[in-house]
Amino acid sequence: MTATREPSIHGSDLLRLVGADTKVPLVTGGTRRYVNLDYAASAPALEAVHDAVEELLGWYSSVHRGAGFKSRASTAAYEGAREAIHRFVNARDDDAVIITRNTTDSINLMAGVLPEGTHVICFAGEHHANLLPWKRIGVRYLPIPETPEEMLDVLETTLRDLPHCPDPHLVALTGASNVTGEMWPLADIARVAHANGARLLVDAAQLAPHAPIDMARDGIDYLALSGHKLYAPYGAGALIGERDWLNAGDPFLRGGGAVKLVTVDETLWAELPDRQEAGSPNVIGAVALGVACDTLREAGMERVHAEEAALLTYARERLAAVEGFEHYRIWPAEHPRVGLLTFNLRGIQYDLLAAVLSAEYGIGIRHGCFCAHPLMMRLLRVSDEEATRLLDETRAGHHERLPGAARMSLGLGSSRADVDALADALTAIAEHGPRWTYAVADETDEYEPNPDPRPLPALRMRMVEHPHGHGESA
Ligand SMILES: Cc1ncc(COP(=O)(O)O)c(C=O)c1O
Repeated sequence: MTATREPSIHGSDLLRLVGADTKVPLVTGGTRRYVNLDYAASAPALEAVHDAVEELLGWYSSVHRGAGFKSRASTAAYEGAREAIHRFVNARDDDAVIITRNTTDSINLMAGVLPEGTHVICFAGEHHANLLPWKRIGVRYLPIPETPEEMLDVLETTLRDLPHCPDPHLVALTGASNVTGEMWPLADIARVAHANGARLLVDAAQLAPHAPIDMARDGIDYLALSGHKLYAPYGAGALIGERDWLNAGDPFLRGGGAVKLVTVDETLWAELPDRQEAGSPNVIGAVALGVACDTLREAGMERVHAEEAALLTYARERLAAVEGFEHYRIWPAEHPRVGLLTFNLRGIQYDLLAAVLSAEYGIGIRHGCFCAHPLMMRLLRVSDEEATRLLDETRAGHHERLPGAARMSLGLGSSRADVDALADALTAIAEHGPRWTYAVADETDEYEPNPDPRPLPALRMRMVEHPHGHGESA
């Protein structure tokens, strides 16, 4: 007897995505369905999120301080979002949920309110969002660990050897790497941190969209996430965690809404969450994020994760068979990970590869160093001398091409057909190279189709072409 397979939750009506069938032009003529393999940078909106936002717009008004009926409705929706986020990560009853712009904002907020003298411990392979904010208060970067076991050992030894003083300690690390997808064993890390008097902050930008999070069970003290990676690209994120540090001292941002009373001489700050939400909040963004959290919870994050893991296994097998495919990882191949793969195709520059995939095959991936320069230098085996040379040249104002890689990432709605499209395209590129001409553009120093006959879509808003590849993200 054959077992009936449960229908896939990916691609189900509940998890439908806006723009899933968008067609894009190819340089060689015609169009094809856009193959989105760039979820890790930013994910499309859930239709449920889009519909809720549209509905709320008719009721949109200022929150908290308005007596008008629309203000009451908007305030209820805003506070409902806070509750949805709290549930999504299974925070402790007393944890605060602060609405921010994104993960970067959340971690900077945390860095801005840490108690005086906090020792921060961080591994060097983090995304810049969880690497740089700590620099202004002093941080100890630990070397990128070869295995999870080594990571736990090093963490334990480092925390044990910290000077015995009453100053607090904070361990700040990622839930899932945006370069390797490897998931960090958060419950074990929290155990080690707590046993040695430290608190744990988790950068969940890449974890939250792809795997269940349980702050209460795992002992995560603080957690940061971004709505635009969680199928709610409306400009909000969140910082969730213990109240005491967030509710002491001056807030990170000062201004209206964060106070109880102000005189020219004195300011009485409000309690959380208002204390850390100065200025008019992004009501639409918060509600979008809340609806995404509720929708994903209804779908079941265990199931979302299991289906993505199965698709990732398929992708690893298919792509490994492509001649010249080189995949990067730090930890053993069998270590659990979220659905992304960072790779190079031997014999072709990573930015040219990304340009060819987009222009000739309609496939969107990410390329570069993924805002994780120290980790990428290690994975690409860039020597210390070469890293120093790159630093010196860049400091001197010379335009240096950095080493880099390509990254494909999966999400809701990703399918075997998407993976096949990438594997077939890579095979064709490995065999025959590009079918179009490309040149390094002056503004970006990166490969672009030359000429590029693809028209931008005729949308109703003003559009100004911007050199892509400008700056770096994700
Ligand atoms: C692991 C990780 N942390 C932090 C961030 C920063 O997220 P945001 O740009 O939404 O602030 C990213 C973005 O790619 C990320 O991948």
